[in-house]
Amino acid sequence: MKSSNEYILHLDFGADGILKDPDNIEKTHKDKNPELMYIWTGHPEFVNQRVVDIIESVGLFILAIDVFKLVPENDTWVVHSDVGLWDRQEDSVKINWIYGNQQSPMIFYKPKDPSKYEIRALPLFTTFIADPVLKQITEQGKTDSKYVYYDHNNVEEIYQGLVGFPSLVQSGVPHTVRLIGEEPRYCISAIIGDKSEPFKPATFSNAASKLQQYWLQ
Ligand SMILES: [Fe+2]
Repeated sequence: MKSSNEYILHLDFGADGILKDPDNIEKTHKDKNPELMYIWTGHPEFVNQRVVDIIESVGLFILAIDVFKLVPENDTWVVHSDVGLWDRQEDSVKINWIYGNQQSPMIFYKPKDPSKYEIRALPLFTTFIADPVLKQITEQGKTDSKYVYYDHNNVEEIYQGLVGFPSLVQSGVPHTVRLIGEEPRYCISAIIGDKSEPFKPATFSNAASKLQQYWLQ
């Protein structure tokens, strides 16, 4: 088994987060999935450039930013690993900032039968896709954003922990989040690329070692 900080590694970028103005969360681009929103990385209205600069200063960059919202009416994500457009199921990395409800853990699982999974597309539309080359967003009528779904009966819990402000998270391992309490939880989730391999996502260990000076001890 991996050690605990190979699933969630807390970082310290200073007090301010990725959002320029946290009160603007609900003004970010709405996806047609009611619980999803999207921020274009180059959108100065939403993004705190100081944090973007920190990430870029160590040789990483933000490929895209998703906003995931959990509310009492929709309080749990399915168990999944993030493959997105990538084909690296076991290892992918995001930097997540939690706004609002910070008491809801991210739970990681091991599939009992790893051969049993489904590749699923997001159920409705992902409206905006970032183009890292053209640095613009394209409106998409149809989603090409995918994830690997696991049935709850086919997984056993291996680790759970709180996501911080921010934390590096291992999103290639099956995981979910369950809301605890009534307060909405917003997860601002940056998909991280490596400048030396701009068309592939960074791995967790690579991003962790590049960000070592920012580990929260
Ligand atoms: Fe995920």
